[in-house]
Amino acid sequence: MLFVNPFSVLAESVSPIFLQIFVIAMIILVIVGTLVDIIHKKNVKYFFENAKKAKLSATKKLTTGEKISVISKTIVSDIATTSELGAGKRRAAHLLGMYGTILFWISSVIMIFCYSSPSSDTPTAWPFIWHIGAIMTVLGGCWFWFFLRVDVYSEAQPWYRIIKADLFVLALIATSLFGLIWSYLQNLNLNERWDDKVFLVFYIVSNLILFGGVYWSKFAHMFYKPGAAIQKNLAEADGSRDNLPPESDAPKQFGLGITREDPKHY
Ligand code: HEM
Repeated sequence: MLFVNPFSVLAESVSPIFLQIFVIAMIILVIVGTLVDIIHKKNVKYFFENAKKAKLSATKKLTTGEKISVISKTIVSDIATTSELGAGKRRAAHLLGMYGTILFWISSVIMIFCYSSPSSDTPTAWPFIWHIGAIMTVLGGCWFWFFLRVDVYSEAQPWYRIIKADLFVLALIATSLFGLIWSYLQNLNLNERWDDKVFLVFYIVSNLILFGGVYWSKFAHMFYKPGAAIQKNLAEADGSRDNLPPESDAPKQFGLGITREDPKHY
């Protein structure tokens, strides 16, 4: 199963053009959902106005070289390793899910656009990356959802309490999990049985929810967070600090209580 392109097997009964149209439709849904979100929340407008205002209190004019260096460091650390989440489980779970999703999406696009005819010979690396990406997403997503999300971790809510904010992570887990089960069942070659088709439908529906739900979910954070991290680090480097007061250089004296438990009450 790990080395079989599930889309080329599917293409024996569904024309590859439909698979390609589906992917394009999902990309359009993400673009439209993000634009509507930006218009509704006015977050990008606020972001640029705030950055312009903060620039007025800059103590240093950054050269192009310095800006490139700050942006490169942000890409390598803040974005590629989500350093905002600090060291520990939260960051590990996010990296697992984030890179799993990236691998899953890239290999899906490559297999659907380059190797989805039944006669095509898919290099074994692509289906392997697709399955591993899906497994990583399920593991990272479940780790986060069952154990680390704030409602459960800090607010003692039961793990099965589902709210709108869970739409993104649950849809993400569902797409990967249903994709894996569909691939497995299809590979069993059950001929007239319907099992794989049911999971194919679940896989399609969960993708529609994930990509069609961008406006209502946290999907767009993957675009906003990198932008915010670059702005924050540029503001740090030019001394404007987004108009926040400088860090105190006084000794950290918070009393003994500070070491008794991890900070987790937000
Ligand atoms: C393919 C890209 C990405 C995926 C699939 C992804 C996935 C996720 C998921 C599933 C969550 C949990 C959402 C929830 O609260 O229910 C999350 C939260 C978060 N993500 Fe991402 N993410 C991506 C990119 C990024 C990037 C590029 C950054 C930062 C530069 C980032 C920073 C964060 C932060 C700070 C949280 C909050 C974590 C927490 O509450 O513990 N993410 N992400």
